[in-house]
Amino acid sequence: MENFTFYSPTYFVFGKETEHEAGKQVKRFGGSRVLIHYGGGSVIRSGLLDRVKKSLKEEGLTYVELGGVQPNPRSGLVYEGIDLCKKEGIDFVLAVGGGSSIDSAKAIAAGAVYEGDFWDYYRGKPVEKALPIGTVLTIAAAGSEGSPDSVITREEGMYKRGASGEAFRPKFSILNPELTQTLPAYQTAAGITDIMAHLLERYFTTTKEVEVTDRVIEGLLLTMVHEAPRVIEDPDNYDARANIMWAGMLAHNNCCGVGRVQDWSSHKIEHELSAVYDCAHGAGLAVVFPAWMTYNMHHDVMRFAKLAVRVWGCQMDFDHPEVTAKAGIEALRRFLISIGMPSNFAELGAKEEDIPKMAHTACYGDGGCGTIGGFAKLTREDVESIYRLMF
Ligand code: NZQ
Ligand code: ZN
Repeated sequence: MENFTFYSPTYFVFGKETEHEAGKQVKRFGGSRVLIHYGGGSVIRSGLLDRVKKSLKEEGLTYVELGGVQPNPRSGLVYEGIDLCKKEGIDFVLAVGGGSSIDSAKAIAAGAVYEGDFWDYYRGKPVEKALPIGTVLTIAAAGSEGSPDSVITREEGMYKRGASGEAFRPKFSILNPELTQTLPAYQTAAGITDIMAHLLERYFTTTKEVEVTDRVIEGLLLTMVHEAPRVIEDPDNYDARANIMWAGMLAHNNCCGVGRVQDWSSHKIEHELSAVYDCAHGAGLAVVFPAWMTYNMHHDVMRFAKLAVRVWGCQMDFDHPEVTAKAGIEALRRFLISIGMPSNFAELGAKEEDIPKMAHTACYGDGGCGTIGGFAKLTREDVESIYRLMF
């Protein structure tokens, strides 16, 4: 295991009706004038936004609102939010929604206290300062409620980039699994896929002797395999929703990624797809991950076989571990299809002629060094081959 530091100071409030605590938590973390940031309207339709506003008022807090965050959030609205924060003297940013609203809120929070262009952070500058951020989560997926990351799409060129820094960790996150019961089945499944991808990005490592985090990842993957069909079958199953929601946080606040090399090339490959075709991030990952695994299996076939045995219950073939490894990839592919995810390029609306440009942007775009991935260093040619496997 490698040396590491881990500091994850987000205060979590988990369970039924906890959104009523939003005002109390904002106050606890020093907010007085709040920007409420949300998406395309689901939080209005469900009545959640009204409940959150009521809880702010009850604590004597004032607020301004900025809705309209699109899935795969755009830089244009971030600039608008930054101007609004400066004009209104905002001292706390509260995201109500999914990963897109949270990521947009993080970008605004950083830009509001920065003299330069907020996009500098998405070109690699570490985020050291931001307004305090809180979240009321409505979908278990991106893990942004506990992560130090934010992902934004730049309209000029339509490419997606991430920024990171401890200042991006929310001060608090309110996780009420009931709020996820209004999700369309497709979004629930895309969220589940993203959670599993966050675990797999960490599982595929070159670091030896990391049994503790291997086992935590495997446990969380097994939980998703158990809970996903239950929640697809019965969207009102609170306990399944609760397990998935907490797993989503654990999968991405990095408690299971510490002390090990992580990969993340599948995310980079997917980000091109959701930037160009505006597909759901999780749906893109459902297509990317099995292809990435097939292409990279030979780098450490025993690790792939171990995953197949421990998570998918495959029989270990000691003479031919590649057979076991392949069976595990096939089990993942079948599982994702069974929960309603796409399995190929065309289902995402993706086109073959875009492959060279996407592969180039994934590897070289905005400061890229030419290769991606910690488990296997992939060149532009490798990435092109992986895209082609997705047919
Ligand atoms: O916009 P509204 O109307 O709220 O509708 C949303 C949106 O259409 C809807 N939705 C969310 N909660 C709902 C609901 N509909 C009904 N009931 C509810 N309770 O679902 C759609 C998707 O929402 P979005 O916020 O886009 O989903 P998600 O949480 O999957 O976020 C995806 C974004 O997160 C980024 C992705 O790249 C993508 O841009 N990621 C962020 C990460 C991070 N910050 O750490 C890591 C991830 O790997 C990921 O890259
Ligand atoms: Zn993701």
